Amino acid sequence: MHDHLAPSCQGPHLRAELKERLNMKRIIVTAVSFVLAMGVSSCGGEGEPTGTPAMASTKAAPALTDIEQLGKSIFFDENLSLNQNQSCASCHGPEVGWTGPLSDTNAHGAVYEGSVPDSFGDRKPPSAAYATLSPIFHQDKQGLFIGGNFWDGRATGEKLGNPAADQAQGPFVNPVEQALAAPANVVERVCAAAYGELFEEVWGAGACDNVDMAYDDIALSIAAYEASPEVNAFTSKYDAFLAKAVDFTKEEKKGLNLFKGKGKCSKCHVLGQGPKDPPLFTDFTFDNLGVPRNPDNPWYTQSAFNPDGFDWVDKGLGGFLATQLDYAAYAEENLGKQKVPTLRNVDKRPSPDFVKAFTHNGYFKSLWQVVHFYNTRDVKPTCDDPFTTVEDALAQDCWPEPEVDENVNTSELGDLKLSAEEEEALVTFMKTLSDGFDIAAP
Ligand code: HEC
Ligand code: HEC
Repeated sequence: MHDHLAPSCQGPHLRAELKERLNMKRIIVTAVSFVLAMGVSSCGGEGEPTGTPAMASTKAAPALTDIEQLGKSIFFDENLSLNQNQSCASCHGPEVGWTGPLSDTNAHGAVYEGSVPDSFGDRKPPSAAYATLSPIFHQDKQGLFIGGNFWDGRATGEKLGNPAADQAQGPFVNPVEQALAAPANVVERVCAAAYGELFEEVWGAGACDNVDMAYDDIALSIAAYEASPEVNAFTSKYDAFLAKAVDFTKEEKKGLNLFKGKGKCSKCHVLGQGPKDPPLFTDFTFDNLGVPRNPDNPWYTQSAFNPDGFDWVDKGLGGFLATQLDYAAYAEENLGKQKVPTLRNVDKRPSPDFVKAFTHNGYFKSLWQVVHFYNTRDVKPTCDDPFTTVEDALAQDCWPEPEVDENVNTSELGDLKLSAEEEEALVTFMKTLSDGFDIAAP
């Protein structure tokens, strides 16, 4: 077992360093960003990577450093919203694998209401865990777009050196999320909070005086928490299996083999990055799976935000690229592509009957439905109505047309020829990816 966070390397180390650099804020920002980008613990000596995660054998929650604790306080603070009723955790609950914590919402529209009643976003919240490990948004030599945060990658990481930090500046001032008027309001509330003192301790006396810098510090603190072993835990049964601390059942092994083989899942939800790099189940690329529209998405009727009504489609990566001078030429060929999500914690839920929603618009309500779609998308006939829920589609034995019919991936999915038992085995394997696995009581 690798000790991820030895108590001796806690907060004071980072704090002393930060204090030393009190007047060199940009260097601090760069240092923290580096720490985040490398996926290393902020207390790992001289930036020594701690690639081997806290393994499943440790049940005790690891202690947080000062900056991580600060980020945690901000992450869970409902006062940082217009009506003091919403925090980051309202849409990213740890008990559901850092995604939407409301079963009933997930069962229907799957997008979340903001601080202001009746204002909804247009996408399902992805996991806030493992998001810090996404590379800065870029185009590789083959022309493929990789990285960033959000389903469309638009939190690029260019501003603060890490996509998750860039991302963290959005929700506070998004009218359909926490809905505060301006960064100044966020800074004011953070500095007046019980943890306001910790903020100045971590970022230096006077850190509250400059709104722009303080807003950056808030985002970097959140990202530090998101990068901590409390969020990026790597404590699933699969991690224990990789560490040879536990064996898989026959069914789990069958599922893993299908995931790597016949199911082609690991082509995008990648597994192998070497023993020091536990798999993240994503290569941070973008793809259009041809997921149908979610008819229950309240965005269709949010006329104040969505003038297109039921004609609206989620353009994904292509929509973001169209807004970028350098990349607009690539928009068309990337329409409808969404970021490959991590599958870590994909089945984590507070109780067996708790409903989770899957894919960018929450169309699917169970892992089996997702697998069945991969398996039969191109086999079943097209439903008459493009706005058909997954329950109705299954009852009618059809799949609705894709939300975006350009650029649909037909080479890696659609007709996998999996048997019913093979579909089930894939689901069983995905259930081994939930953090908090207890070897003593599996
Ligand atoms: C009202 C619900 C809501 C609130 C509040 C909210 N989020 Fe999100 N979050 C979302 C949705 C929806 C997305 C996806 C949006 C998109 O792709 O356009 C998202 C995306 C993210 C991502 C990107 C994950 C990835 O892999 O791309 C991170 C990280 C995240 N949120 C963290 C936070 C933090 C930190 C806060 C608080 C400052 C927060 N969220 C507040 C709904 C919410
Ligand atoms: C071509 C790349 C690719 C392949 C192959 C692939 N996936 Fe995915 N997967 C994605 C993308 C992209 C999304 C998000 C699509 C969207 O939201 O529209 C996704 C979403 C998912 C989700 C929903 C996760 C969530 O948090 O909402 C699950 C579950 C999933 N995939 C499992 C699988 C399984 C099981 C296989 C193999 C049978 C597989 N995937 C094969 C790219 C891929």
